[in-house]
Amino acid sequence: MWPWCWLTERRWEKPDQIEERNRMRIGIATDHGGFELKEKLVARLREAGHEITDFGAHQLKPDDDYPDFVIPLARAVAAGKVERGVAVCGSGVGASICANKINGVHACLIEDHFSAKQGVEDDHMNLLCLGGRIEGTELAWDLVQTFLAAEFSQAARHLRRLSKVAALEDPSE
Ligand code: RB5
Repeated sequence: MWPWCWLTERRWEKPDQIEERNRMRIGIATDHGGFELKEKLVARLREAGHEITDFGAHQLKPDDDYPDFVIPLARAVAAGKVERGVAVCGSGVGASICANKINGVHACLIEDHFSAKQGVEDDHMNLLCLGGRIEGTELAWDLVQTFLAAEFSQAARHLRRLSKVAALEDPSE
């Protein structure tokens, strides 16, 4: 009897749905190179219960430029208007280079589970970059979930290292 109940319950469960206390304000952006992946991630993040600000692109336009979408996203992350950011472009490289020009943003192109977690815990990564032409939907979704679930450790050695990085943002240095 009980295995049937278990199966019935499992069928209606939404395994990726988060608890209320884990709900986050998340910004997301892409150019044409990551448009399809961005649309899928927005749908999954909303389904999971997060509050999403979609910085575009809102339509697939093959000649659009990733800075037009990634810069507003990165500024929102730096200003705390969103707690975390996800930027997609074809490779994830342009998005990463662009986002890191904004003071306070720690962006990185991530392609593996370990770095999605450790990048937040050790390096305070606050903006995850993905390659829409490189990473499949399921890998990308795992990376996004791992990134969102991770927290900066506040360990003294990491704070020390990050203060040296932050000094690069000071124009008087
Ligand atoms: C656009 O074709 C492509 O260059 C861009 O999406 C990204 O991959 C840049 O790094």
